[in-house]
Amino acid sequence: MIRLDTENTTLLFSVDGNNILGVEYYGKRITDTNFDGLLSVHREPRAERLVASSFGAYDFRESSLLAEYADGTFVTRLRYCGHNFTKKPDISPLPSARDADETLEFCLWDEVTELTVKQYFSAYKKCDVITSFCVIENGGKSPCWLRKAMSLQLDLSGDKFEITTFNGAWGRERIPSRHKPGIGIFRNDSKSGASSAESNPLIYVEEKRGAKRHFAFNLLYSGNHLEEVEITSYNSVRILTGINDFMFRKKLMPCQAFTTPEAVMCVAESDEELETRMHAFVKRHIVRGEWAERERPVVFNNWEATYFDMTEEKILCLADGAAQIGAELFVLDDGWFGQRYDENSSMGDWYPNCKKLKDGLAGLADNLRGKGLKFGFWVEPEMISKNSDLYRAHPEYAMEIPGREPYIQRGEMMLDLTNPEVRQYLVDSLSHVMEECKADFIKWDFNRLMTDVFTVCGEMGAYFHEYILGLYEVIRNLTDRYPHVLFESCASGGGRMDLGLLCFMPQVWTSDNTDARDRIAIQEGTLFGYPQSVMSAHVSICPNHQTGDSTSIENRFNVASCGLLGFEIDFMKCTASDMETMRRQTEYYKQHRRLLQFGRYRKVESCFDSDRSVWMVLGENEAIAVIVELENKVCRHGEPYLLSGLDEESLYEVTMRPQCNVEQTLSFQATGSYLCNVGLVLGDLFADETDRHENSNSIASRMFYIRKIS
Ligand code: DGJ
Repeated sequence: MIRLDTENTTLLFSVDGNNILGVEYYGKRITDTNFDGLLSVHREPRAERLVASSFGAYDFRESSLLAEYADGTFVTRLRYCGHNFTKKPDISPLPSARDADETLEFCLWDEVTELTVKQYFSAYKKCDVITSFCVIENGGKSPCWLRKAMSLQLDLSGDKFEITTFNGAWGRERIPSRHKPGIGIFRNDSKSGASSAESNPLIYVEEKRGAKRHFAFNLLYSGNHLEEVEITSYNSVRILTGINDFMFRKKLMPCQAFTTPEAVMCVAESDEELETRMHAFVKRHIVRGEWAERERPVVFNNWEATYFDMTEEKILCLADGAAQIGAELFVLDDGWFGQRYDENSSMGDWYPNCKKLKDGLAGLADNLRGKGLKFGFWVEPEMISKNSDLYRAHPEYAMEIPGREPYIQRGEMMLDLTNPEVRQYLVDSLSHVMEECKADFIKWDFNRLMTDVFTVCGEMGAYFHEYILGLYEVIRNLTDRYPHVLFESCASGGGRMDLGLLCFMPQVWTSDNTDARDRIAIQEGTLFGYPQSVMSAHVSICPNHQTGDSTSIENRFNVASCGLLGFEIDFMKCTASDMETMRRQTEYYKQHRRLLQFGRYRKVESCFDSDRSVWMVLGENEAIAVIVELENKVCRHGEPYLLSGLDEESLYEVTMRPQCNVEQTLSFQATGSYLCNVGLVLGDLFADETDRHENSNSIASRMFYIRKIS
């Protein structure tokens, strides 16, 4: 037996007499060290639980590998030919989790075609995560074609499982949906060229019998992905995750190798535990660079305040408001460049529109810095408009099929990032503009999906993948060159919240939907796989531009402060008292910023299970709890709110954050055991009339700071 352990979990492999490599066990850590006795009684055929599989070995399940050989055959029989503990290989341009504690390499081989598969497993011990990817090499004398190359295959016994996916759409990203699959194949995938809002690569799988383990899987990848869960009639389940095999046909010449993206898996005793482990993994092993553990600034973004109708005068006026409420960084959104007056032009022309900004970005940035604000700007580098100087000069840069009218979406086409010249153009033009204004922040947007895929530079069968490699090369180049700059990724809101981009850009714009009530669901869903320190959240105007609903400014803040706080609001439409409220909110947020951004997040009550949402962030000797009533009813007799994660033996002081719409204040002392077992009994704290008058929906929220006294 070969084992890989994390602090609390064990992954066990074994090799049988036919040199078949199998997975014996993945679950809670086991302490046995000698398996000799066990192996002699343990007679289940290894062929049922394979580390990697293909067609031709009498296994008719979905497989991790499918190769087509020059003679037209598809048979690959993988045999174990060795393993060793090694240094995790560098797989760039693909992103990779950093600082692995231990890496195990297995070598598998097909003796006829001489295809080899090196399957790697790396342990991240403290957060109980294991990652896996493989390198497939054509050791034969003729070319072959990879038709499927998954990163991770996990075979388990049993046939009662529940799956949770985090799917959605624009404005409602990553909403959990639970599935109870029977015998058959369950697929979660994306074919649009992006990890997508429609189906995030994160999935949870819960075993409903036996050990009742909870598993999570994810992928460090931003393109077409596939997660398959196949339950068979033979009481087994196979979980696969990796690049989608849709339109995939990658040629491998003799001696050439293909590396898959890195997949992530975690096992725990509950979904809550999975969430905590995934957060720790993202914080410690995915996000990197100067910003990894640094407190993030409170931003102001002008998009909802101006849309394309931006003038220097309006921007300066908004900047005054931003400085007044205590924001620290101004993000100039879409519309500052080329001849951009609507969405139909100028994509690719990354130079300032001097009719809108008379002194360009540099002049504006200086002006804003004079007001005490740092400066960042929006770009959508992967796109090109027909009506742009770039297209006029280089129509061949666009992703277009000769002889076919391209599909235009949001007025734009995509650039062909498989072309090295296009990648160079992006690095040069973006570096130029970033240097000119000494950018502190970049918001990297992506507003359409891929249709007219075509390349003269690469291989059509691997286009989607090669595009993503090209994208990673450009981003790696820029993020390495400008390590002080904070990059935020965005894709029409949160359409590319994935572990691949998070290796380069430490935060993501979560969703364009800033309605507090909808945001609670979006944030709760997102937090299943991604910590609050990567999740941007803004306070915006009411009625909300996406839903038309209104809710108090205090609700909007309480919800946004679950993530990286920003404001995206037209101050010209705010009253003096709103401004003062936002100033106080920002001050409070900054005071507790480390806790709010980097504390241990804990979902206490989920909006998906009840009409309340309660979450906490926990630090060493302090915590914050946010309580949201989603249906604040008249004349209600509320149940207490049980807190969680506090030290039951300790005494705490609980203080409600003062809110402009609540007259009462609350401050008291109680033990951890009281707060976790009896709970917060808020009496009529939610009965305040003002909440209801301000809202068109009936949500009401309160925030509490909890400090350990002894
Ligand atoms: C979509 C983003 O999600 C918005 O925040 C904004 O940046 C627009 N694009 C600008 O076009």
